[in-house]
Amino acid sequence: MAISRKRIGILTGGGDCPGLNAVIRAVVKTAHNDYGMEVIGFKDGYEGLIENRYMHIGIKDVSGLLSRGGTILGTSNRADPFNFPVLQGDEYVHLDRSSQAVLNFESMGLDALICIGGDGTMNATAGMEKKGLPVIGVPKTIDNDLVGTDVTFGFDSAVVSATEAIDKIHTTAQSHHRVMIVEVMGRNAGWIALHSGIAGGGDIILMPEIPYDINCVCEKIRDRSAQGKNFSIVIVGEGAKPIGGDMVVARIVENSPDKIRLGGMSHQLASQIEGITNIECRVTILGHLLRGGAPSAFDRILATRFGVEAVHMVAREEFGKLVVLKNNELSQISIQAVSGKQRLVGCDDPIIKTALSLGICLGHPENMSLEDYCSSIPTSSKIKFE
Ligand code: F6P
Repeated sequence: MAISRKRIGILTGGGDCPGLNAVIRAVVKTAHNDYGMEVIGFKDGYEGLIENRYMHIGIKDVSGLLSRGGTILGTSNRADPFNFPVLQGDEYVHLDRSSQAVLNFESMGLDALICIGGDGTMNATAGMEKKGLPVIGVPKTIDNDLVGTDVTFGFDSAVVSATEAIDKIHTTAQSHHRVMIVEVMGRNAGWIALHSGIAGGGDIILMPEIPYDINCVCEKIRDRSAQGKNFSIVIVGEGAKPIGGDMVVARIVENSPDKIRLGGMSHQLASQIEGITNIECRVTILGHLLRGGAPSAFDRILATRFGVEAVHMVAREEFGKLVVLKNNELSQISIQAVSGKQRLVGCDDPIIKTALSLGICLGHPENMSLEDYCSSIPTSSKIKFE
């Protein structure tokens, strides 16, 4: 294996999450210790590569990074090199700046670009690969919705934070005999809702993938009351919607590749439940709390494994690949294969079966199989603007 002093570029793109700094640390340590490679970090995702804003990251710079949330490089969820927002007068126009990015990469004498990000960043990275850049992807997102990997780093930390919150919510639910609704992030995927709902002992879990029947939700709450359990905990993914209804949009972010920001559907759910059951409800929206703070031990290890492997891939010149975890083994898949796709919760997922065996209501009638329910309801992707 012919390995000489290579220069690696690295960037973090999309929403931040716990574990980004742990990947950067692992990349810098492995590059330095195993190969004597140099690492250049681009600031604010692809924006830094396009605008030539970067920093050298040496071994001293990564001290204390393992447990630190966020990203020392900064990030952006608006910096698509192929559709880059540029202010002209009072208005943004979108330009293809991908050739500028390639030019900057080449003029810095870089041998590889490690891109840490979710689906938006991987779409851009797939495009940069087509333009000839030697890219390697590292899968990040609290949403856990990247295809090709069993898990992304950031997800476990988000589930830990949500579970701690649900544990706390339990006490007020029990003391006041209320229905407490906890809304979690996750965009179009219900992974965070499902995992934190099970870990936190939730009674009802509603996810974007399974449009809920409000009458089934209320029946579950009433059944619990009839059994003397005068409270219920409902965990809701931000993209959840009733049958025939719409997702609730909190805001539109212009210049972002995915403009829609979800959030707030639990208020609608609370008034429906109060209207039907006459039981008092309260809503807690966890939002960005799930993206902040120190990574969990699981995420520190996963992020570190991904970072170390990404540098070995640079050394082996295995470009155009995303490092992934499959059955707890590291492997790689083509970035082109993950581009433009989302990994959603399937009705037949083993963790769904776990939830059903526990008697958790997923918003469907108890006397109907989930598969039959899902295939019986019309799919609607309409979105409601608040
Ligand atoms: O993709 C991560 C995520 O936190 C989603 O769960 C959420 O819908 C979105 O990003 C929020 O984005 P922003 O930070 O732009 O509000």
